[in-house]
Amino acid sequence: MMYKSLLILAGISATLAVTPEGFEPAASSTLLVSFGSVSAESGNVLAKDATQTAPSIGTESQLTGSSFAVLMIDLDIPTNSPPATNTLLHWMQTGLTQSTTATPLGSTNAFLFQNSSGQTAFAEYLGPAPPARIPLSHRYTQIVVDTSDATEASLSVLQSAAASRMGFNALAVLTQAGLESKVLAGNFFNVTNPGPVASTTGSANSSNSTSGGSFTNSTGTGSVTKPTPTPTQSPIVPGAAMAQKASGMLLGIAIVGAVFVTL
Ligand SMILES: *[C@@H]1O[C@H](CO)[C@@H](O)[C@H](O)[C@H]1NC(C)=O
Ligand SMILES: *[C@@H]1O[C@H](CO)[C@@H](O)[C@H](O)[C@H]1NC(C)=O
Ligand SMILES: *[C@@H]1O[C@H](CO)[C@@H](O)[C@H](O)[C@H]1NC(C)=O
Ligand SMILES: *[C@@H]1O[C@H](CO)[C@@H](O)[C@H](O)[C@H]1NC(C)=O
Ligand SMILES: *[C@@H]1O[C@H](CO)[C@@H](O)[C@H](O)[C@H]1NC(C)=O
Repeated sequence: MMYKSLLILAGISATLAVTPEGFEPAASSTLLVSFGSVSAESGNVLAKDATQTAPSIGTESQLTGSSFAVLMIDLDIPTNSPPATNTLLHWMQTGLTQSTTATPLGSTNAFLFQNSSGQTAFAEYLGPAPPARIPLSHRYTQIVVDTSDATEASLSVLQSAAASRMGFNALAVLTQAGLESKVLAGNFFNVTNPGPVASTTGSANSSNSTSGGSFTNSTGTGSVTKPTPTPTQSPIVPGAAMAQKASGMLLGIAIVGAVFVTL
């Protein structure tokens, strides 16, 4: 029994932290994400400036599959009713293939995903730009989905969904496309506006605030007027990761795993 528990516990460490708490469909293996020499991993804090062009992505092992899609979603878009938040699709690129040889990525070697089909992105990469509103910290989540067997209809569901970035619901969209069980790898990082939070005294001015980084539409991620964030904190592992949905079978053990994460 003890032996078995230890085996399961070893598996848990890989299960935790690849996608944020509550995010579905959750990924259980790590997507390596790197902006040049800056690695995004385990919810670490990155400078906004480092994240403004699409990252290189890959996995440590070569995956099975001939076609993949990457999605990036901000889970922490402010609303006019804080602390309620919304989501925003930052990136959706289909038609990716994976290289057959590992090359350097960040501090490791990885099998990179390549845009070899030259397929136009369903949603072009949009750099993180969290406004000076609550919440100041945003979690940018990346997932890679196996689209090898996706039908034209599936892909067209993705394309239509990508047309409205605001309120993007990854689970609903992938379920509608029949791809909810095809998430192969995931990751997230944190970009934080240095604040202070712009005053938003009441709703009378919420319709056209330019000082508060108001999100008025999908490309109006606002934020152009915001100061560049200069986070000084060292990378962190969010305690939130501990709450990641565990399967019933692993639940008891997940609590043990959570102790490790919170320590
Ligand atoms: C993939 O190639 C197409 C066509 O050149 C381009 O529009 C798209 O932005 C590229 N995507 C990435 C992730 O480089
Ligand atoms: C809206 O905000 C401006 C400052 O940005 C302020 O001068 C004005 O009184 C506000 N109007 C209302 C109705 O709160
Ligand atoms: C907000 O809208 C009002 C009219 O609705 C306009 O007069 C004002 O200039 C706008 N403020 C900004 C900052 O766009
Ligand atoms: C977003 O809003 C800005 C400013 O109101 C506007 O110029 C732009 O066309 C809008 N974009 C979309 C996709 O609606
Ligand atoms: C993101 O990083 C900031 C520090 O910059 C931290 O205060 C915040 O808790 C982090 N958010 C998450 C969800 O990890």
